Amino acid sequence: MPTIKEILQTMDYGPAPESTKEAQAWLDQHGRRFGLFIDNKWTEPTDTFGSFNPADGTELAQVTQATGDDVQLAVEAARRAHPGWVAMGGHGRATVLYTLARLLQKHARLFAVLETLDNGKTIRETRDADIPLAARHFYHHAGWAQLQSEEFADYRAVGVVGQIVPWNFPLLMLAWKVAPALAAGNTIVFKPAEYTSLTTLLFAEICQMAGVPDGVFNVVTGDGRVGEAIVKHPDVNKLAFTGSTEVGRIIRKATAGSGKKLSLELGGKSPFIVFEDADLDAAVEGLVDSIWFNQGQVCCAGSRLLVQEGVYPRFIEKVKARMQTLRVGSPLDKSNDIGALVDPVQQQRIAGLVESARAEGCEVWQPSCAAPDQGAWYLPTLITGASTTATVSQTEIFGPVLVAMSFRTPGEAVQLANNTVYGLAACVWTESISLALDVAPQIKAGVVWINTANQFDAACGFGGYKESGFGREGGKEGMYEYLTLRSEDARPALPQRGGEKAKAKPGQEANPFQIDRTAKLYIGGKQARPDSGYSRAILGSNGAFLADVGEGSRKDIRNAVEAAHKASGWAKASAHNRAQVLYYIAENLAARADEFVARIAAQTGSKNAEREVQASIERLFYWAAWADKYDGQAHQPPMHGITVALNEPVGVIGIVCPTENPLLGFISLVAPALALGNRVVAVPSEAHPLSSLDLYQVLDTSDLPGGVLNIVTGSADELARTLASHFDVDAVWRHDGSAEGCAEVERLSAESLKRTWVGGAKGRDWFDPKQACGRAVLQHASQVKNVWIPYGV
Ligand code: NAI
Repeated sequence: MPTIKEILQTMDYGPAPESTKEAQAWLDQHGRRFGLFIDNKWTEPTDTFGSFNPADGTELAQVTQATGDDVQLAVEAARRAHPGWVAMGGHGRATVLYTLARLLQKHARLFAVLETLDNGKTIRETRDADIPLAARHFYHHAGWAQLQSEEFADYRAVGVVGQIVPWNFPLLMLAWKVAPALAAGNTIVFKPAEYTSLTTLLFAEICQMAGVPDGVFNVVTGDGRVGEAIVKHPDVNKLAFTGSTEVGRIIRKATAGSGKKLSLELGGKSPFIVFEDADLDAAVEGLVDSIWFNQGQVCCAGSRLLVQEGVYPRFIEKVKARMQTLRVGSPLDKSNDIGALVDPVQQQRIAGLVESARAEGCEVWQPSCAAPDQGAWYLPTLITGASTTATVSQTEIFGPVLVAMSFRTPGEAVQLANNTVYGLAACVWTESISLALDVAPQIKAGVVWINTANQFDAACGFGGYKESGFGREGGKEGMYEYLTLRSEDARPALPQRGGEKAKAKPGQEANPFQIDRTAKLYIGGKQARPDSGYSRAILGSNGAFLADVGEGSRKDIRNAVEAAHKASGWAKASAHNRAQVLYYIAENLAARADEFVARIAAQTGSKNAEREVQASIERLFYWAAWADKYDGQAHQPPMHGITVALNEPVGVIGIVCPTENPLLGFISLVAPALALGNRVVAVPSEAHPLSSLDLYQVLDTSDLPGGVLNIVTGSADELARTLASHFDVDAVWRHDGSAEGCAEVERLSAESLKRTWVGGAKGRDWFDPKQACGRAVLQHASQVKNVWIPYGV
């Protein structure tokens, strides 16, 4: 007689198929052929391509491949609609967003079924995650629209935004992008991924029902060429992209020097860390969510399992046992866990990567179930025995494939977790709160989930570190991506090279007792001779020789970056301590103010030298004041717990300082970076570097640890190029008035996807706090990490 347990094990779930009747009827209603949605009207479908159900390969509809002319029409419609949409005001827009949220909820099942048909993901996920979260985004952002005049009083909408999304979360990615853009008062040209356009087209209909005014939301469907046309369109003011790191790089290069705002949410290879004391069964369930949700086609999928040695064999056994119970099959069946991949192309890509692991000697394990014969499928897969450098350990597989390895100590776990070019997300499983909260800040990723996985909410920002991109979606930080500071509109034209001239005072350059002093570079807290062995002569405003300074080169930048990395303790120093150092610099600068005034006057001939030194002292006080006040936030997502948004330093920032205002410009940029815990490699004003070099002695007496601020003089163009191409520099700021140089920094930064902040083709009044101070500067100097901490589990 079999036991009850044995009987239960042989029993299977009965089929629980979801009806597709309504979704099919909606497709039929459109004759299964879709045009574009431009200016609130449908265009005639032309030059169409098929959109297929990946679970069985059947064609669902024909969708239009938009042309460059279509993109032009869509951008024009969005441009025309922009003033009216802004004029509707925050409350007006809030009511439209609220209506959109309501309509999404009213038609939730239609959206869920259509998404499942088009994408292949299970109905359980579209019904319980994609669609409710999309509606939540519209509700949340209706709130931001309502509060805009109060919370973002100094900002205006950016204008026309181009948004390009991938196929893994078609409607959810739309909601993440469209809701904040509309709330802020922008109008949109939107491009869904070519595999999954259908829920976007249904959403366009919902916009008509909700009374979204003509031209506010436009849809152009098609492949990458349509995306490229949006990216290159001169009248698009901001681009938001989610997709592969490769295309992210192309977009960064294509927009270099254009002045377009840009946010990129790219790939990931996220670690899932299990410590010995974790609740192992809960961790297994978290892992299922983390890597097998949406067949692993998730940018933040926990695709690298790191397990502490003592529990590794036991945990792997538990994972395998759980994998055996995962149900693979029709995504429309409510009791299935794993649906179809989006397209056979992805299936081949995944199979190729898994084969590479086999060829490298790894063990590849799959449960004993079978995948359906038709359509695009891949069974849940576990790879063990891979080295840290194996292709499967480093490449984003974007499929249901988990690579597992063990570690010994928390330090090793952090090292392995960070051993990737990506930095999107991480999971940490331990019952020790102090261990979890010690490890979370050390992981270089935009999101850390503690004892949970794949949690999202509209109130909590999401986005990457390193090659996972920049910019955040969700929360207040996400709103800033769609807003421009009004003070940016007031920025002056680029200053004339040479600045304000006045006659040098006689005797200033002729001191009979002066001993020749050649200012060196400042690296690792010490003065260093330039590697090139060359110097350049610095002349005063009257053309007289003032001093020689070192001609810095690529090698000097490399040394400076190395010194900056060694000074990583600065990021861990208390904010109070960092503030004290900045105050101390201000104090020592004030003690030598006369000397600095004379130096500025001699270099630039400025009649404002005294004012500049005074403003520099005040600016140091200003950024010192911020050091311990730029707090993060504690969000309250709909979860029993909190999400802590931490403002973390970016890392090592290369700063090319303004040509004019050699002291104030330098301090205005370097001080906020230091205040938040970054280390800096600064290139002072090329024409007037002596004010920065005079600071060495001030720095040496102000307790600034060696390597935290490094100064390399020389050609701004050459040094900026080296900084922008350097893989260990996390961000580059360039504000020396060279529009071409700024474009080059943006272009070169694409290789390692470092963040940039450039002055472009406009000047900046460094004396004006509205242009040179404020939270916007702190945002450039920091990146937000959201740490999710559930309670009581
Ligand atoms: P993709 O990055 O090529 O496509 C994403 C979107 O960008 C689509 O709408 C596409 O039409 C558009 N696009 C393509 N080329 C463009 C260009 N030059 N300019 C502007 N837009 C362009 O991603 P794809 O081909 O769908 O997937 C390839 C791989 O990328 C996946 O296997 C996965 O590894 C990764 N991926 C990562 C995603 C993430 O969220 N991290 C999302 C999608 C893909």
